[in-house]
Amino acid sequence: MEIRKYQANDKLNCRNICLLTAPSTNDERKKQILLNLYNDYYTEQEPQNCFVLDDDGIAVGYIITSADFNEYSAKFKSIYLPELKKLSLPEYVIKRLSLSLEKRIAKKYPSHLHIDILPEYTGKGFGGKLIDLACENLAASDSKGIFLGVSYFNKKAVKFYKNHGFTVKLTIFPFVRYMAKLFD
Ligand SMILES: CC(C)(COP(=O)(O)OP(=O)(O)OC[C@H]1O[C@@H](n2cnc3c(N)ncnc32)[C@H](O)[C@@H]1OP(=O)(O)O)[C@@H](O)C(=O)NCCC(=O)NCCS
Repeated sequence: MEIRKYQANDKLNCRNICLLTAPSTNDERKKQILLNLYNDYYTEQEPQNCFVLDDDGIAVGYIITSADFNEYSAKFKSIYLPELKKLSLPEYVIKRLSLSLEKRIAKKYPSHLHIDILPEYTGKGFGGKLIDLACENLAASDSKGIFLGVSYFNKKAVKFYKNHGFTVKLTIFPFVRYMAKLFD
């Protein structure tokens, strides 16, 4: 097992990890929405801020991050939001609202992350290693801190983030908890 920088040929595996760790669906449109919201921006626009857990050349987990929320938001709005609008008007509206709410959190915590590991590789310390490495990488590029959104019901992930120094900043019941931490 190895943790390494994301490479372009990890793209398909990373997209699969995103779908396999989300609530299961056979609906192609829902899959495209998940990839639009949680995957493609990061690997396409900020590959230097993405890392994978590698099992014999195959990515089986990732942490994908964005260093600066304002840059993320501008690029997301111009490249990814129009596609999301075509896929689902309600998701488009929710994403627009999220972007304006997150803009306020990002004043203090400019970076953000998504982390997903295939079930057979969880609980072995790899998530902790990925999060430490991603935070070191962002701090080295002068970011002050990082935030994330986690489902209110994902108790395992909330505990994991707390163990890694994140605290809850805002809960939008019943959907999402925003957690954040400053870099040392
Ligand atoms: C949340 C997630 C990223 C955490 O990654 P992980 O690799 O399971 O995390 P770790 O193994 O570092 O830590 C998890 C637990 O394993 C324990 N652990 C760490 N190293 C271990 C080891 N070598 N052996 C056994 N257990 C270990 C940790 O103590 C921790 O336990 P705790 O939560 O009770 O304190 C991962 O479970 C995941 O991808 N889940 C599905 C998708 C998801 O929910 N993503 C987050 C969306 S916001």
